[in-house]
Amino acid sequence: MRGFRNIFAMIPAIVCNNVRCKYRSMIAVQGVSFQVAHGEVFGLLGPNGAGKTSILSMLAGIKYPSDGSIQINGLNYATHRDQIKRLIGYVPQALAFYTRLTGLENLQFFCGIFQIFGDAAKNRIQHVLKVVGLTDRAKDIAETYSGGMKRRLNIAIALLHEPKILLMDEPTAGVDPHSRNSIFECIEQLSRTGTTVIYSTHYMEETERLCKNIAIVDQGQIIAMDSPQNLCESIGGVFFQVGVQGKNRCSLVDILSQMDSIAEVNLKDSLLEITTKEPQKVLQAFMGITDKLDIQISSLNISNPSLETVFLKLTGKGLRDQQDG
Ligand SMILES: Nc1ncnc2c1ncn2[C@@H]1O[C@H](COP(=O)(O)OP(=O)(O)OP(=O)(O)O)[C@@H](O)[C@H]1O
Ligand SMILES: [Mg+2]
Repeated sequence: MRGFRNIFAMIPAIVCNNVRCKYRSMIAVQGVSFQVAHGEVFGLLGPNGAGKTSILSMLAGIKYPSDGSIQINGLNYATHRDQIKRLIGYVPQALAFYTRLTGLENLQFFCGIFQIFGDAAKNRIQHVLKVVGLTDRAKDIAETYSGGMKRRLNIAIALLHEPKILLMDEPTAGVDPHSRNSIFECIEQLSRTGTTVIYSTHYMEETERLCKNIAIVDQGQIIAMDSPQNLCESIGGVFFQVGVQGKNRCSLVDILSQMDSIAEVNLKDSLLEITTKEPQKVLQAFMGITDKLDIQISSLNISNPSLETVFLKLTGKGLRDQQDG
């Protein structure tokens, strides 16, 4: 028996292999591959429309990939759909409960859906209410909950059947810092007790706090994947974006690219991008050189190494540029 357990532990909780997703002719996910180990919190970080919900929908078995394969604990949906469904808890991006029922009534209803009855249901309901911190408000109508409480009820429902893998689609959307923190603590606790979590968000700070590894998703593709720390270190220093005007811009690039303190320099039209570990020194030298070459500076943006900078460097746009708030 122990041998079997060891073999089981070696199989990743999730293997996503070259998965694609189409809505009619619209390609939402184009060849995404990643693996997630048991008990890991894995982040999907990307802006609106990147494809996060589409990826989670395929992992949850709600949408079939148009190509590629998904394995959950070594099983696939074609042959082991019911088994996989028992393993997975899905926290959808949109709130998915009855607002005119109380929190408790909602949980009782969903226990029925998961076929949990009697004392088992009572115990699970008490447990999940405690995990999400809603015990005191369980008998209130869900409509009267704050945004954060509604999000926590959404999570509680997904936890009722003790899933081994939890798929969370932007679970903190629109919640205040206090509720956000209590959701984080809940995820950390679940991870400590062996639950695998896939966490989708467009907040880089959330993935930095929670996730061992993250995939940065943009336009249906994974554009970078590693631990948040390794991704930030891959930037190679502070990142400058400077708007430059003047006919000597190419000479400016030539001079800067010869400086030892500059790791990388690129000119895209009138936007100059510089990566350096010595920002102070570079900034001083930069001012002198632009002055001599009669180059005007129209904008200056300095970012410390962060996942936002990684995204900026890889796509040329900010994670938040495209957010709706
Ligand atoms: N049901 C659908 N029919 C047609 N196109 C869709 C459908 N669902 C999603 N899409 C498209 O697929 C792409 C990816 O959408 P998806 O919802 O997966 O992105 P997302 O990363 O979850 O975005 P958000 O952060 O806004 O939730 C988008 O271009 C979107 O318009
Ligand atoms: Mg989404």
